[in-house]
Amino acid sequence: MIESYEKAGKIVSKVRNEASKLIKDGLPIIELVEFVESEIIKKGGGIAFPCNVSINEITAHYTSPPNDKNILKGGDLVKLDLGAEINGYIADSAITIMAKGDNNLTDDEIAKNESLIESADAALETAISTVKADVEVGYIGGEVEKTINNLGFNPIRNLTGHSLEQWNLHSGLSIPNVKDNRTGKLKEGDVLAIEPFLTDGVGYVVPTSKVNIFKFLKNRPFRLPYTKKVLNHIKKNYPHLHFSFRWLTDEFSANRLKTTIKELSDAMTIYPYHTLREKSNSWVAQKEHTVIVEKEGCYITTK
Ligand code: CO
Repeated sequence: MIESYEKAGKIVSKVRNEASKLIKDGLPIIELVEFVESEIIKKGGGIAFPCNVSINEITAHYTSPPNDKNILKGGDLVKLDLGAEINGYIADSAITIMAKGDNNLTDDEIAKNESLIESADAALETAISTVKADVEVGYIGGEVEKTINNLGFNPIRNLTGHSLEQWNLHSGLSIPNVKDNRTGKLKEGDVLAIEPFLTDGVGYVVPTSKVNIFKFLKNRPFRLPYTKKVLNHIKKNYPHLHFSFRWLTDEFSANRLKTTIKELSDAMTIYPYHTLREKSNSWVAQKEHTVIVEKEGCYITTK
């Protein structure tokens, strides 16, 4: 089990480092996403969830739809969040990079981006330094919040890290980015994805109308043969982990799929993860590692 977590972590860390170098003006987002997903497979892993590329005020849960026309611009604050699995044991890591190349930002805006990125690093370091058996999750959040506030920014209050279990990206425990009254305690051997998000805005995310990422929830009977066929494909290929609309279009036509996916998510057969944006449209940085809790600290699998 530990070896699988380690192997998944090594794959994620290599692919993250390789993909980071591509983040520059003019790069189609779909190329970045497809690079990450295909490299995970080439290196012997499974894709734990669709590669997320969230730009500027877009905070999380964006992956390319089929034929995504969006292109990175120099100066964009790009959050790359990726996950690999080995035998269902997941590594989840994210990094924020300012897209290289010509940009229209002022010197102040560039300095702010750099400061957001450095502060995300510092917030994650603080979080990781508090992790050990018997620590309450609310305490970790408090330390993260203090670090972020001292650097002049606000944590995103309604996004949290999460515990991982085999074939389960979000198992029971949440790791908040602000002080709260959660009394859940870490146990030796817990596996956690810790991911502070911060901004100079209000520090709150809201859903947009876009949905590109889904998760199978539970079976239901459907009358239309096409709906049944799509649902069977989902159950067979993604019984536990998140999948993207784009992946389904390898098998089904995008146009027809749209109504079917709506039908499945309205019936709560699949859960729609809406793309999230910062409520005041301020830019957001994020950094994330997966760690295994030890008696007196933790082991970072995605370093
Ligand atoms: Co992540």
